Amino acid sequence: KGKEYTCIQAELLEGGAIGLITLDRPKALNALSEALMKEVLDALQTYDADPQVGAIVITGKDKAFAAGADIKEMKDKRFVDAYASRFVFHWNSISAIRKPIIAAVNGYALGGGCELAMLCDIVLAGEKAMFGQPELNLGTIPGIGGTQRLIREVGKSRAMEMILTGKHFMDAEEAAQKGLVSRVVPGSNDALLAEAISVGKQIAQQSKPVVALAKECVNAAYEIGLQEGIKKEQSLFYATFALEDQKEGMQAFIEKRKPDFKHK
Ligand code: CAA
Repeated sequence: KGKEYTCIQAELLEGGAIGLITLDRPKALNALSEALMKEVLDALQTYDADPQVGAIVITGKDKAFAAGADIKEMKDKRFVDAYASRFVFHWNSISAIRKPIIAAVNGYALGGGCELAMLCDIVLAGEKAMFGQPELNLGTIPGIGGTQRLIREVGKSRAMEMILTGKHFMDAEEAAQKGLVSRVVPGSNDALLAEAISVGKQIAQQSKPVVALAKECVNAAYEIGLQEGIKKEQSLFYATFALEDQKEGMQAFIEKRKPDFKHK
């Protein structure tokens, strides 16, 4: 049985293969309070350590994935408070999660909500998804990677427009066209969630160490230069030849059968 949280729900699905995290402060449009983010991190780390879990899905509720960091909570912070407490620093721990994280985004993904989606590995959007970085309207700037990640997703000009005006939001269709999300899932929130779980199940069928190696490699493309990235990819590629799952995967192909991975 899952832990009791107050700002999120966390449950295991599909016989324990999928960890589902639902942000659950709908009255505040899932504003990402410190307490909520601590719970998200705790659930992520719990699922990451659970040998049964193959993928993690994060979703919102009603009309929001998340409308950003909690403005009410941070409005009185002074520079020294933010700096000394390393405000939002712990969000970086999301990058250390090895299991794939799929965001199912419907409704608002604004500010920290958009940044949270970009911290995930795959983003699926519902038809009502709306992405934006409205921090400048509040006299601040994105603080959880938005200025760095958004340009990699949608290009400099569109990222600048969104960030500098604080007003030009991006709908689901454009987000898919630009590559901020992998695709739009038509229909209800339930249809979107079902699709995210289905993608998670497909990943959970793969060899877990190979999935983790692949995720590490793809993320390296974000963080390091091309030559270094290719070197890293090659050494992790070589490393897969040390796994029984590589032997099984290739043998199964030759025998025209489904692989039976040991580390699924
Ligand atoms: N923080 C705290 N509370 C929030 C919130 C946020 N980010 N976003 C919405 N809420 C609260 C509202 O205050 C309101 O609460 P009350 O009922 O107590 O008044 C409730 O959620 C519902 O919101 P609205 O009445 O505003 O709903 P709406 O449908 O009229 O508007 C919205 C929706 C356009 C998303 C609007 O709520 C909005 O603009 N929210 C703020 C978005 C934003 O600026 N996000 C960036 C935050 S800063 C950040 O994230 C910094 C960073 O990078 C670290």
